[in-house]
Amino acid sequence: MWNRVQETVKFLQDKGITKPAYGIILGTGLGNLVEKIEIEIKIPYAEIPNFPISTVAGHSGELIFGTIGTKKVIAMRGRFHYYEGWTMEETVFPVRVMKYLGVENLIVSNASGGVNPAFKVGDIMLITDHINFIPDHPLRGKNEDRFGPRFVDMHEPYSHKMIAKMEQIADKMNVPIQKGIYLALQGPTFETPAEYRMVKLVGADAVGMSTVPEVIVAKHMGITCFGISVITDLGVEGIVEEVSHEEVQEVAKKSEKIVGKLVEEFVKS
Ligand code: HPA
Repeated sequence: MWNRVQETVKFLQDKGITKPAYGIILGTGLGNLVEKIEIEIKIPYAEIPNFPISTVAGHSGELIFGTIGTKKVIAMRGRFHYYEGWTMEETVFPVRVMKYLGVENLIVSNASGGVNPAFKVGDIMLITDHINFIPDHPLRGKNEDRFGPRFVDMHEPYSHKMIAKMEQIADKMNVPIQKGIYLALQGPTFETPAEYRMVKLVGADAVGMSTVPEVIVAKHMGITCFGISVITDLGVEGIVEEVSHEEVQEVAKKSEKIVGKLVEEFVKS
């Protein structure tokens, strides 16, 4: 794993990718955040050695390097999900690569189902914490000490400072914001009504199929994380409705302009 990461890092550095301060993972329907980036280099995943290739419709895979304001950023347009069949190691590989390109801060975005009755479809939720219910772990197995420690501290998975900063920005922009706990399930099925109820009972506000593996690995390597989720459907008792990937994409698409603007201001400041 170490050697593969270094090989990929070398390839990307030779292409001209140097020291991005921010890594950004663009989730479902949020790919247009990319419009906020002054793009310098764009590389399809298929051309990057050791990179998995995303297969889900709406998750086109390319790595984007550029600037937002004065900050250098590297963005993944299209991420890898465990449910696609990738191993955990493959799922988180790009985050390992980001670290050795110089990334110190990771911004992850996703779409999720809200189980908090105060939530509405289209709400933007800042992720304050997570619960890992994916039946696997990206750090299972022999630890690579060069990446980080065997036992990783997770007392602040999502930076309190960054959450406070984003709240300030949203306030200034008059954008209402929710905060909450994100629970990751394996998928690819959406939840049954009983499963949504379980998600709520164990203390989460929203449920999705991503993000947690990437954040775990980022924390393993000492990267500061920030997560933002668009509530695309509700799994609230009494109003659990049919949900489809298309609908999730559609709602995420509606919110992506505002999420893009928030993240742009956030990185600039
Ligand atoms: N469940 C799981 N993943 C999701 C959902 C959901 O309701 N909405 C968007 N991603």
